[in-house]
Amino acid sequence: MAEIDLMEKYPRTKRNVEARGEEKSPADRALARQFGKDFFDGDRRHGYGGFSYNARFWEPVIPTFQKHFGLTAQSSLLDIGCAKGFMLYDMMRLIPGIKLAGLDVSEYAIANAKEEVRPLLRVGDARQLPYEDKSFDVVISINTLHNLEKDEIVGALKEIERVKKRGSFITVDAYRNDEEKRRMEAWNLTAKTMMAVEEWKIFFDKAGYTGDFYWFIP
Ligand SMILES: C[S@@+](CC[C@H](N)C(=O)[O-])C[C@H]1O[C@@H](n2cnc3c(N)ncnc32)[C@H](O)[C@@H]1O
Repeated sequence: MAEIDLMEKYPRTKRNVEARGEEKSPADRALARQFGKDFFDGDRRHGYGGFSYNARFWEPVIPTFQKHFGLTAQSSLLDIGCAKGFMLYDMMRLIPGIKLAGLDVSEYAIANAKEEVRPLLRVGDARQLPYEDKSFDVVISINTLHNLEKDEIVGALKEIERVKKRGSFITVDAYRNDEEKRRMEAWNLTAKTMMAVEEWKIFFDKAGYTGDFYWFIP
């Protein structure tokens, strides 16, 4: 189990953080948590405010994943919370032949996924993965598991442990100090579990999670 920032090449803009920091009502959060059209392609108050493919996001990150996990055409990888499959699409292009699968609870995201990867994706829940034990060399889940309650995250981590053969990487909403906690609370729309990084580490350990992890800190 290692704390490692495999997302360091993912571009981040301050503008997004500020836009998302605007006042949000319980109704905004409830709508966002449905992970439907409003969350992906609706008003900015309810989520992304338009979720479309741009190579500049994942293309620079894939080589980091590739090197860290030694991914080749012979590898297999599952992305939990794959949304419209943008990360998987870039992985398919940059590591030709790799066996990929994506899972997301959002019917809308899967129905509107990038066409080239849509056949690899399915609707499903991180809490109960529809795969056999040891189905994938590597399992990745970016900014997804914090959308569950704590006890559900324990179950989801055990599911990752069950379906992976050798490695995994997850990122979750976290903070390192009071200022980051305040910004996280202002930013948050869908997360049900946000913790300090030290709390997450203890939590992962107790859950028996053996993979790698890092933080989303707005
Ligand atoms: C913040 S988005 C991240 C999408 C993508 N991983 C990325 O980094 O661009 C969170 C995703 O988690 C999905 N999600 C939320 N709860 C889930 C669950 N219980 N099982 C599977 N996916 C879930 C949402 O539909 C959404 O696509």
